[in-house]
Amino acid sequence: MRAVPESLRLAAILLAAGAIGGVASLIVLNDPDKGVAAAEALTGGSVARGKAAIENRQCAACHSIPGIAGAKGQVGSSLRGMGSRKTIAGLLRNDPDAMIAWLRDPQVIAPGNAMPDMGIEDREARDVAAYLYSLRSAPS
Ligand code: HEC
Repeated sequence: MRAVPESLRLAAILLAAGAIGGVASLIVLNDPDKGVAAAEALTGGSVARGKAAIENRQCAACHSIPGIAGAKGQVGSSLRGMGSRKTIAGLLRNDPDAMIAWLRDPQVIAPGNAMPDMGIEDREARDVAAYLYSLRSAPS
């Protein structure tokens, strides 16, 4: 039997490595845990506690929120893709400090808007912000 030329063998190895790398990067890109880790690093909060807080606080009465059962409220905007948005309520640049400030004092930031101050303190606001930042719209 004729031996496979060295160069062909090398090419086959490189092709296989490329295929494995491609599949691996696809898995990483689609890994929801990565979004959770990034949201928690950004806010210093916990996505899991934030989800529980959103359920307790009944944000669903006013907002449609991905991942929250029955959250189909129509008073405020949908919070879909909140982690990818440029602004908060069309007023603030969307960054963690501004999000925490909004969640704590929406009536101070936009007096008379329909979102009430709910007595949310820093710790809880960080958790809620972490959950909201885990909601990212798919890259287009
Ligand atoms: C009584 C209704 C009501 C409740 C309850 C409520 N919100 Fe809102 N929310 C609003 C309104 C009205 C706005 C301002 C208009 C807008 O941007 O949707 C708003 C804005 C927001 C925004 C900015 C949205 C954007 O599109 O920029 C976020 C984030 C938000 N709310 C999160 C929450 C969270 C989290 C809770 C629960 C802790 C909550 N809201 C509870 C009515 C409500």
